[in-house]
Amino acid sequence: MRWRELYPEWQQAVDELVASRETVLVLGGIDSGKTTFCSLLLKLKHQAGMQVGFVDLDAGQTTVGPPAAFSSVVIRKPYELLQDLTPDSLAFLGDVSPVRHGALALAGARRVLDDLTLLQPDSLVIDTDGYIGGWHGRAYKLMLIDLLRPQVIVALQRKDELTPILDALRRRADWNLHELPVPQAILRKSPPFRAQHRRAAFARYFERAQSHTLPLEQFSFIGRRLGGGQPISDARRRYLADQVRAELLHAEMVGDSLHLIVRQPLSDAQIETLMTLASVDKLVMLPQSAYHNLLVGLIDYTGRCYGLGLIESLDFKARTLGLLSPVRSVDPVRWVQLGYLRILPDGTELGEPLRDG
Ligand SMILES: Nc1ncnc2c1ncn2[C@@H]1O[C@H](COP(=O)(O)OP(=O)(O)OP(=O)(O)O)[C@@H](O)[C@H]1O
Ligand SMILES: [Mg+2]
Repeated sequence: MRWRELYPEWQQAVDELVASRETVLVLGGIDSGKTTFCSLLLKLKHQAGMQVGFVDLDAGQTTVGPPAAFSSVVIRKPYELLQDLTPDSLAFLGDVSPVRHGALALAGARRVLDDLTLLQPDSLVIDTDGYIGGWHGRAYKLMLIDLLRPQVIVALQRKDELTPILDALRRRADWNLHELPVPQAILRKSPPFRAQHRRAAFARYFERAQSHTLPLEQFSFIGRRLGGGQPISDARRRYLADQVRAELLHAEMVGDSLHLIVRQPLSDAQIETLMTLASVDKLVMLPQSAYHNLLVGLIDYTGRCYGLGLIESLDFKARTLGLLSPVRSVDPVRWVQLGYLRILPDGTELGEPLRDG
């Protein structure tokens, strides 16, 4: 088969791993061939008649499932490309990198692995992202590996970029470490290529999305500031609004700050009055349109993320949330997990102006 000529450096390890039922985690910097290695191993295991599970822990350059999420799938039927498979489990990260969201990423990784284990695949292959640099990249990878405890770790290295991670991994006896070079056939992807790949993956995910409306009473917001505070009663909110003669659509105390959603921006004098009345040092004021196009995860009553959505409207008068999502129904939604990206349904990323959301 052609792969032997393309990746001669991998031959021995691949032959050994195809026959084994051990869980394999693939580690490496960006463009080190991690996904190529996983795809090859999965294909060969599938061809050998195994029902193999794939865990995709790269939320930036996803293979299965939409970006900004981890996913996992058991491969039961013949397939051409991994991207054609529908994930059996998703975990919403809300961002394309785990850099600022270590705890969320670790929890999500554990969930997609546990969900897959329940489906009893014959063996498992785990792909990871290329975030290995600095002490934080190392710490994240070591925590991830310690949390998932694969029996085999494949480390793909160009030069010596994995040295600090490998040094720590070699000291443990609970996994087998295969240190392999990056074959010549593995090319680097340019940043525009990466951005385009992600855009296309988002666009594919939202291609058949529909508008849905959920009553705010049906679910809790999680993940960001909104919904994370002590509610302020309607009477108290109306009192505060009357004092400054402004429309306060939503108000809550989050820690020691007053989180407000307003129809019109408030003047400095109005802000000062409100801060005095509420005895707070900090006031966050957002228009309700601030949440438009925010990427969210839809979590059901068993804690499973069963789809992603984009906020179309957040209406505190009508007490509804409007979402664009490919999910069939929003009836099971119990948590709406607010993400860190604002995107258009065609996948265009609008960045994150919602710092205080
Ligand atoms: N057989 C091949 N022929 C041509 N190009 C190849 C081949 N195998 C791999 N590549 C190229 O090498 C690139 C990098 O490989 P791959 O995507 O597997 O690396 P990665 O470590 O998963 O990258 P990332 O950090 O983006 O997750 C691929 O996008 C592809 O362009
Ligand atoms: Mg990859």
